[in-house]
Amino acid sequence: MNTTRKRWTMRAAKEVTYDIVVTSEIFDPGNPELGMLPCGQESGGTRLVVMDETVDALFGDRIRKYFSQNDIDVEYLTLPGGDENKTVEAFLKVASKLTEVGTSRVGTPPIAIGGGVLQDVVGMAASLYRRGIPYVRVPTTLLGQIDGSVSAKNGVNYEGCRNRLGTFAPPPRTLIDRGLIATLPERQISSGLGEALKMALIKDARLFELLEEYGPHLVTDRLQDSGTEPGDPQPGLEVIHRAISGMAEELQKNLWETDLKRIVDYGHTFSPIVEMRALPELHHGEAVAMDCVFSAVLAVNRGMLAPRQLARIVDTTRRIGLAASHPMFADATVMKQALADTMRHRDNHQYLTLLTDIGETVFVDDLTEAEIDRAAEVMADLLREQEADPRGAVVCLPDQPQARQGHGAPETSAPLAA
Ligand SMILES: NC(=O)c1ccc[n+]([C@@H]2O[C@H](COP(=O)([O-])OP(=O)(O)OC[C@H]3O[C@@H](n4cnc5c(N)ncnc54)[C@H](O)[C@@H]3O)[C@@H](O)[C@H]2O)c1
Ligand SMILES: [Zn+2]
Repeated sequence: MNTTRKRWTMRAAKEVTYDIVVTSEIFDPGNPELGMLPCGQESGGTRLVVMDETVDALFGDRIRKYFSQNDIDVEYLTLPGGDENKTVEAFLKVASKLTEVGTSRVGTPPIAIGGGVLQDVVGMAASLYRRGIPYVRVPTTLLGQIDGSVSAKNGVNYEGCRNRLGTFAPPPRTLIDRGLIATLPERQISSGLGEALKMALIKDARLFELLEEYGPHLVTDRLQDSGTEPGDPQPGLEVIHRAISGMAEELQKNLWETDLKRIVDYGHTFSPIVEMRALPELHHGEAVAMDCVFSAVLAVNRGMLAPRQLARIVDTTRRIGLAASHPMFADATVMKQALADTMRHRDNHQYLTLLTDIGETVFVDDLTEAEIDRAAEVMADLLREQEADPRGAVVCLPDQPQARQGHGAPETSAPLAA
């Protein structure tokens, strides 16, 4: 035996497979999908069902009936939605409840029924509980269905930063029932369409055309394609399927994000700081859409994107019920701080996705402060336009608490180095 050896190198690969399954009438006791275990085995004990508060109010009776009629032993935990509730405390609550119900390593996977916030919180708890247990994801918001549903990521906000704590751990099963989003307020539909807009801009011109043509209808109809006959266009269905397919295609080739150049980060470079500082004023997809516009302005100013395409992007953003600008996007200081913070997440590279056309992108790593100044001026113009004609504006709706504005917000990052 060689006793002088000083190093052992371990090498192992873990392949993951997970399904995103489209279903309908998911809470109909005759539909087996919800109760089914990921690996087809029999459940040996009580399963935890974590529900979003609004989902419980809307569907709780049907969900309870589903499990009782199918003789599946479950206990319930209800948590509030909203990014302000995506906290360490929320994920610890789930962990405690998993212990209380006696969750085992494999045989009793919890079920998460709710929006992106609930999915991220339960996903994080499941990924850390016993160092990782499987769970089942049932997204009930458009954003959760077209974006989070494909993702391997979860997490909670921490110390004023979005998703600062989290893990990569995809659940083996995600169930998509488009009927569940029929109860969403229009504003939440628009927020979800913000992520569809991102996907359209980076790789799917047809998806963009659907949003452009059917935008207002998609919002009011909540992508249900109500009243359509066989053979009629089904823009709601097509938008959801194209958005999920696009996301799946992009994530599959770089699921663990070993490559930090990701076109799916379009719309997510400048928005995270704005979103956290504006909490709870701005929803995720609202901030993402504004970032999409800001980044399109940067591309036009570089001569990479035709101004006509920017006009279409701004118009489509408004047609899906979203505002194109916000005071923080018109504030170059905030934008520089946002980029600096995001660069730390990209190992000190910008890796900024810019558009050369709708559906076509390049990466840029040499954006200057002067370019941010110019783009912020355009965002200020768009803001004035929006204030004069508030049809596309979603900020400070009467049912929302008044937000803190950017200038007085605490600093969470240093300015971008020159
Ligand atoms: N893990 C990922 O890869 C990933 C991807 C995209 C988004 N996210 C995260 O998702 C979060 C945003 O998700 P969201 O927009 O779904 O927010 P959310 O979960 O807060 O839901 C939005 C609101 O809709 C309510 N709601 C949920 N389902 C409903 C229904 N069927 N009918 C009526 N109301 C309903 C909720 O109670 C909440 O008030 C962000 O924190 C974002 O970071 C994560
Ligand atoms: Zn997003």
